[in-house]
Amino acid sequence: MNRKDDLIAVFDSGVGGISVLRHLVKLLPAERFLYFGDSANAPYGTRSREEVEKLTFAAVESLLPRGLKALVVACNTATSAAIDSLRSAYPDLIIVGIEPALKLAADHFPGGRIGVMATPMTLAEEKFSHLLSRYHRDSEIYKLPAPGLVELVEAGAGNSPQAEALLRKLLAPYVGKLDAVVLGCTHYPFAAKALSRVLGPEVALLDGGEGTARETCRRLEQADLLRQGAGEIIIENSSREPALKALSLTLLNS
Ligand code: DGL
Repeated sequence: MNRKDDLIAVFDSGVGGISVLRHLVKLLPAERFLYFGDSANAPYGTRSREEVEKLTFAAVESLLPRGLKALVVACNTATSAAIDSLRSAYPDLIIVGIEPALKLAADHFPGGRIGVMATPMTLAEEKFSHLLSRYHRDSEIYKLPAPGLVELVEAGAGNSPQAEALLRKLLAPYVGKLDAVVLGCTHYPFAAKALSRVLGPEVALLDGGEGTARETCRRLEQADLLRQGAGEIIIENSSREPALKALSLTLLNS
């Protein structure tokens, strides 16, 4: 790594990874973050594994020349499709991924009834089957794909009446039957209010954003790469739609 390589890239298929960026900025205010959302190609979650891997590599390769000391893959779908091959391709770069926070849910609700909301691809991947096999004996775990929700968050409508109606339909069989729901897609924290209206305020909503930020901090600390001074946040998107930049800032400050 070069001394001038001091950016932390945060990558997602769109604006969802901003739910992770919020935690990163809080924990590491002196760092320089480069957030890249691939909204032009979102959603990733209904694509094939190969397509998501290809899109992830294309995005990462476009970010590398900017001088990175770390890469946070703030997308559960891209993590399940590409984290292993990214680590093999860039062994000298700190690479942190995100996965559905099942451990957090199982620790907080031992023997509990836990729903896992994630994209169809994340729920179908081998990585998730491994994760599930670790926790399903002690808890009742339900897979809850939510097609359509990412698109609403990308349109700035994650907590809109339309999102609430979609969630009411998708989650009807589970209302009153869950202790917690894991938000296994980084877009979903931006639909948390609609989710709570549907599931009831007593159902805990858990996500891996804070854990991912803590892991990033730990890895940088270990490598003696923590920065001092004033931080910076740069937000970029593959879409030319100007509303996405404004939406990204609104979500960051929400
Ligand atoms: N934000 C992504 C995740 O965490 C997926 C959204 C998409 O389908 O593009 O899984």
